Amino acid sequence: MTTPDPSKPLTAAAVLERCDELASHSSLPDGLIERVYLSPEHAAVNALAAGWMRDAGMATWQDAAGNQCGRLEGATPGLPALLLGSHLDTVPSAGRYDGILGVLTAIAVVERINADGRSLPFALEVVAFGDEEGTRFGTALLGSRALAGTWLDAWWELTDEAGTTLHDAFVAFGLDPAAVTAAARTSNDFVGYLETHIEQGPVLEENDLPLGIVSSIAGARRFQITITGKAGHSGTPWTHRRDALAGASEAIVAIERLARDADLIATVGHLEVFPDAVNVIAGRAEFSLDLRGRFDADRDAAWQRIEALLEEICSTRGLHVAVHQTHAAPAAHCSDRLRGVIAAGIRAADRSDDGPAPLELLSMAGHDAMAVAHLTEIGMLFVRCAGGVSHHPDESVTEPDVASALDAFEAAVLALADGHTLQDPA
Ligand code: GLV
Ligand code: MN
Ligand code: MN
Repeated sequence: MTTPDPSKPLTAAAVLERCDELASHSSLPDGLIERVYLSPEHAAVNALAAGWMRDAGMATWQDAAGNQCGRLEGATPGLPALLLGSHLDTVPSAGRYDGILGVLTAIAVVERINADGRSLPFALEVVAFGDEEGTRFGTALLGSRALAGTWLDAWWELTDEAGTTLHDAFVAFGLDPAAVTAAARTSNDFVGYLETHIEQGPVLEENDLPLGIVSSIAGARRFQITITGKAGHSGTPWTHRRDALAGASEAIVAIERLARDADLIATVGHLEVFPDAVNVIAGRAEFSLDLRGRFDADRDAAWQRIEALLEEICSTRGLHVAVHQTHAAPAAHCSDRLRGVIAAGIRAADRSDDGPAPLELLSMAGHDAMAVAHLTEIGMLFVRCAGGVSHHPDESVTEPDVASALDAFEAAVLALADGHTLQDPA
């Protein structure tokens, strides 16, 4: 652990340099980024983050699920903590800020507060979650669910593309699957959770604003859908074809129409065809569906209609359909208190007490905060990203916006501290 130098506060430029450094830890060639849970790249970025946490004055540890954690004590040792964080894993061909900017903002803010010698009525903890995206095992939020104590034993048999189970990936990473519950924290450990994240949407840019407050996070469900027909020669006449890909295509377009009409978002981002040959009718098509919406009940009602639609399309075409849910997360509401401190933070960064109230917006993207909401109240600060583009190498933020985010996030933490009474250690 080192003592940060107050004359050299961590700048937005330094935070962006760290984003670039993390981006170099990728399993893809040619500058593309992919970093999945429990991979060698995950271990490498945990080590980097741990070093930065120690530079910020924190004691560090990697928890039993591979999340990298750090802690700075408050006014007295052992106080409940304000948890700050986000994730270090990515989707394939990712940008360099989704999750990463939130982790690095949290570390930088702890460093600033420590350098200023402030003593807070709570400890500060930073967590760099190992899995938010679900890229490797299909089920998302594995890191934050381990911390929230909502880990499911059924997940041990999940496999990645190479057939490695989550259980074996734990062992290969040097973790003990039997000890995963040690990553679970309790409500008494925390006074709340704050996360900075790029918006991943166009609202802030359209409103000419660098920062916004998240009101709530839309719930999501993900499914693996398998349509089975009969493979055969491409010369087979129409009367004798049971083409799984044609059935899947019809279903995908129908799902899009249904979701649009219901004011929901549906994404089919993965499709595989078997046997996958130019002169063979597809005997099987497997595709993913990610379904999300403002209200869980609307989303669930739409899923029932989608299931009926799949049955109808498949029975007309002589096909069989099987569905398997791979992920479900309910919508999560950001608490009034933490929305208030984020608003105070944005105003402080703006240096304007009398301007319009900071903008509140719904997040259609999922976040670790959804899992942490199981334990403690959550609040989120959104940072404008160019064109709302995310999950793409073009993801980008500006240095002035990141500077504003650092100021606002620090001010939010201090605003919470101002309104907080010192508690006895839990
Ligand atoms: C994560 O980025 C998600 O919204 O799925
Ligand atoms: Mn993401
Ligand atoms: Mn994210």
